[in-house]
Amino acid sequence: MFDSHAHYDDEKFDADRDQVLLECVNSGVTHIVNAGCDLESSKKSLELSEKYPFVYAAVGVHPHEASGCSENTLDEIKALAGKEKVVAIGEIGLDYHYDFSPRDVQKEVFAKQIALARELNLPIIVHDRESHRDVLDILKSERAYETGGVLHCFSGSVEMAREAFELGFKIGIGGAVTFKNARKSIEVVQFAPLDMLLVETDCPYMTPEPYRGRRNWSGYIKLILQKMAEIKGIDYSEIEEATTNNAKRLFRV
Ligand code: NI
Repeated sequence: MFDSHAHYDDEKFDADRDQVLLECVNSGVTHIVNAGCDLESSKKSLELSEKYPFVYAAVGVHPHEASGCSENTLDEIKALAGKEKVVAIGEIGLDYHYDFSPRDVQKEVFAKQIALARELNLPIIVHDRESHRDVLDILKSERAYETGGVLHCFSGSVEMAREAFELGFKIGIGGAVTFKNARKSIEVVQFAPLDMLLVETDCPYMTPEPYRGRRNWSGYIKLILQKMAEIKGIDYSEIEEATTNNAKRLFRV
């Protein structure tokens, strides 16, 4: 199982990080991409990836942190991105739900990091919350399709998924697909070709049912895969294999 998006640097894992990561391997997790949110967590992602062979790092500045992102920050992100275990620039994007940074700043920092990813030939991991139209427009205007990537924790419609696929972007499906109000996510999984789907926990957040409310971890990826297999009417092993291969291809691991 390939968890394409996790945050094991989060303080919620401070007490038992090593144990949890060991338990991931025991429960069949073969790869984890740990996504950075700012310089600090990008460095921690890299450290985790250098400590654990099955952990890979993404480095980048989340839209929440866009206000604090200077040219210097981007230079440091670029230096980190050159390390061997760094497989993507992320997570980057727009968040109009919280608007922690002004939207014009979010857009600028997103665009600059797409340019960086293209320069380094790395895929991007995109965070998009209530900003679907602007995310797609920026992916197009900044020619993000040249380097590709994944729209993580995908929350858009079938129509948006279609546009993402046309740009060559994959979508990441997480715990939300198991929630009671998951109608839109279910339609998206039904619609999506098998080769465009990744699976992710976004742990410690987004815990799938029936454990919603608890801390999330990569072992719960089984629950998401089970739901995806059920939606698509295919065998569990088929969705597990497809999502693992898709992520391996995207992140070149
Ligand atoms: Ni995340």
